[in-house]
Amino acid sequence: MFKGRSLLCLLDFESHEIEKMLEISFMMKNYVYANQVPNSLKGKRVALLFEKPSTRTRVSSELAISMLGGTPIILNKQDLQWARGEPIEDTARVLGRMVNGIGARVLSHETLIKLRDFSRVPVINLLSDVSHPLQALADIMTIREKFGNGYVRIAFVGDGSDNVLLSLMAIVAKLGLELHVASPKELKPREDYYKIITEIAERTGAVIEFYEDPYEAVRGSHVVYTDVWVSMGQESIAEQKKKLLANYRVTTDLMRYAVKDAIFMHCLPANRGEEVDPEVIDGPKSAVWDQAENRLYSAMAVFSLLI
Ligand code: CP
Ligand code: NVA
Repeated sequence: MFKGRSLLCLLDFESHEIEKMLEISFMMKNYVYANQVPNSLKGKRVALLFEKPSTRTRVSSELAISMLGGTPIILNKQDLQWARGEPIEDTARVLGRMVNGIGARVLSHETLIKLRDFSRVPVINLLSDVSHPLQALADIMTIREKFGNGYVRIAFVGDGSDNVLLSLMAIVAKLGLELHVASPKELKPREDYYKIITEIAERTGAVIEFYEDPYEAVRGSHVVYTDVWVSMGQESIAEQKKKLLANYRVTTDLMRYAVKDAIFMHCLPANRGEEVDPEVIDGPKSAVWDQAENRLYSAMAVFSLLI
């Protein structure tokens, strides 16, 4: 059901398959705590390609593969012939001859598609301009750890065109959850993906609503989630985005509109004083370190299922 498939976007997987990924993520967490991690990647070689910086994804994916008995190979773009102009198609063909799977963090989602098509081994998205599926799995793990499997309303405050938000929308749609997004009208999700997400949401009963007013979106929510205003690769439009998003900061005052036991989430890295106030991210409602830890288990689940 899973072996040999790529994970470029959670939209490519059925709801029950995503549930399985979550189930295995929780199992992996228990295995790690019990010091009984299985050898499910024994003999497997996995290239981890980074075109952009990373802390959580780099550490969690490298550890996930080696803890499961596989061999991770970290490849930073600047060290590859790719940086000197070797086509990504050729890079993919070569990697496909030597490794059993590829994880890649890329500027353009198109690069992931080329890596998949030309390597002929499973490719796992470690963040592209479009999506961040391993993050969304760790996010739902964190939310379920805090609130169980019952009704939860998530509010996302910030950039409506964000890659982390797109994966959050995809998983919310697939699992029939509820998400309120507060975002300026100028920053909307990519239309092609959003269309698919809304069609899935109609089938599963998921609710995804957009608001301009962050207070309206956050009112009654259990989770308040945000991401940076300026993503990697968007440096040239940084000032423009900061201006648009100036009223979308998660403050202590905004958190008061959420339910009493609400949590604050952020994929990290964070810019304190931009998208979130230090009192919130460093305060008692913050779940960001649990969220970061869960990245290890979602990576273990996905690499062991697909490779
Ligand atoms: N959240 C996340 O993907 O963090 P890194 O950029 O550090 O990998
Ligand atoms: N939206 C952010 C997420 C980083 C994990 C970025 O793409 O830089």
